[in-house]
Amino acid sequence: MPNRASRGEHSTRILVVHGPNLNLLGRREPHVYGTQTLADIEGRLEASAKQWGVDLETFQSNHEGALIDRVQEAMDVASGIVINPGGLTHTSVSLRDALVAVALPVVEVHLSNVYAREAFRSESLISPIAMGVITGLGADGYLFALEALARHLQDGSPPGP
Ligand code: DQA
Repeated sequence: MPNRASRGEHSTRILVVHGPNLNLLGRREPHVYGTQTLADIEGRLEASAKQWGVDLETFQSNHEGALIDRVQEAMDVASGIVINPGGLTHTSVSLRDALVAVALPVVEVHLSNVYAREAFRSESLISPIAMGVITGLGADGYLFALEALARHLQDGSPPGP
């Protein structure tokens, strides 16, 4: 398993951002979003981050401005962002602008398959500026996103579009 820390290199910091209503995971529409809580998912992410030799910070808010503030704060301290913007995926020009402004690689995650649901969920303002998108694979999607971002930051994979 690749691990920069074990090779004596500086570790990489990844910010994981969860948007509105994701604090209710486990209780919120479990047939759509699964039964794992945000704490469950973050525990799994922490374990994976250790394996990949990256430092993890996580942040959840129900407020668009707070999410934008947190993304801006990442500008000088993080190397990449995993984000599930929740409903803001489909509406927030400002969150997208913040992600572009900080110029960090972004992996967008959705627990549900947004393309298999209501039509309004098929449009993401974030996807065009993301390095990649994982949708419909449940909580595992966060782990895949973290792995993809860690590998990208450590060895440059995958190549750009
Ligand atoms: C979601 C999908 C969004 O459409 C929805 O508004 C959410 C969760 C997901 O993880 O599947 O809040 O981002």
